[in-house]
Amino acid sequence: TRLVVLISGGGSNLQAIIDACESGEINAQIAAVISNKADAYGLERAKQAGIATQVLSHKDFDSREAYDTQLMSIIDSFIPNLVVLAGFMRILTPNLVQKYIGKMLNIHPSLLPKYQGLNTHQRAIDANDDVHGVSVHFVTEELDGGPVILQAKVPVLKDDTADTLAKRVHEQEHIIYPLVVKWFSEHRLTMEADYAVLDETKL
Ligand code: GRF
Repeated sequence: TRLVVLISGGGSNLQAIIDACESGEINAQIAAVISNKADAYGLERAKQAGIATQVLSHKDFDSREAYDTQLMSIIDSFIPNLVVLAGFMRILTPNLVQKYIGKMLNIHPSLLPKYQGLNTHQRAIDANDDVHGVSVHFVTEELDGGPVILQAKVPVLKDDTADTLAKRVHEQEHIIYPLVVKWFSEHRLTMEADYAVLDETKL
């Protein structure tokens, strides 16, 4: 399975997937890492792993449509089977979403459908939730709204700040994202209409 990973920042989820590919846990190769930010640390992680990188700055484009058209052409040049959004902080146009429907994953730091959008950790604290977590889902046109594949829960502790809670969630991200990519690469994971299916007969 050929992966293209899209990032905007630190790339700790990218690193977890790189590690899982290198160890053989996932039978896949990352063909390229694409960032909309030239200073994303995840680009360094990719280079250190010998993975091709590309920067496509949104600042060089007048419209979302023009940006996404170029982005699709870069993605396609690497002929991926799966597009992995790992902290890619851009809203995608319907054209792009439709092109990779059922073949694009995102990780979102909340127990969806709770807390779509930003500042999820602070929102969980403010709501006095005692459980918070992270979701991996297929990408559809609704922002953070596609079919959920796997979630991990963490406790919200009394003295948590957004930072301490985020750190606890991140540890789970690094476990569940490689696992979902592994399922996809084993052809066990599909998106049907508006839900995700894991085939447990293919082991
Ligand atoms: C993660 O919190 C992820 O859930 C969200 O963006 C963040 C990316 O972190 N979508 P990293 O760049 O993988 O470290």
